[in-house]
Amino acid sequence: MTTKSSNITWHGANVSAEERSQATGQKGCVVWFTGLSGSGKSTVSRRVEQLLLERGVFCYGLDGDNLRFGLNKDLGFSPQDRAENIRRIGEVSRLFADATVVATAAFVSPYRADRDAVRALVPQGRFVEVFVDTPLEVCESRDPKGLYKKARAGEIPGFTGISAPYEAPLTAEIVLRTEGRTVDQSAGEVVAWLDSAGFLG
Ligand code: ADX
Repeated sequence: MTTKSSNITWHGANVSAEERSQATGQKGCVVWFTGLSGSGKSTVSRRVEQLLLERGVFCYGLDGDNLRFGLNKDLGFSPQDRAENIRRIGEVSRLFADATVVATAAFVSPYRADRDAVRALVPQGRFVEVFVDTPLEVCESRDPKGLYKKARAGEIPGFTGISAPYEAPLTAEIVLRTEGRTVDQSAGEVVAWLDSAGFLG
């Protein structure tokens, strides 16, 4: 995307990525949870954040509903607004990763192109896509916020999985099946993956 402003100059930092990593003892990355509403992505990502912090890894969680109260309060759920939502979160999570933080992000992010654009923003190998692969029927039976009921009643137009599409990842680094598994099992799987990939020091 080109910038709207002119007469701007990029200023590099005095510290290289390598030096920053050495100073903090961390290797930043973006752990991107995608899945239907009610799939468990916020719950699992919050648990991952907690487990990493307990291990002394500086981690920070970004979450769809929460960011829509602030940074993205001007955005709705049209495909264009969702793309802008994901673009902004992608930029924010990239900054966290630059700062050597393990950034966890939990967003429905239903469009493959939007997720791939975030992958392209982040340095090679630092984007870990986690597909929270919970079938629609299961999400709908959980319906923690009562939104599926409303969507079925026609009260929420463009609801993902009901009246708007969800494009499942084709090449996610991690696929989590949450059905019949505990939050700790799913979160543990993500932590083990990050560990073996060398992100946890
Ligand atoms: S995204 O599609 O732009 O990635 P995001 O993750 O920020 O969505 O927000 C999704 C959350 O908003 C859902 O968990 C749900 O609570 C709520 N929501 C409200 N309206 C919709 C809708 N039309 N489609 C999906 N989620 C919605």
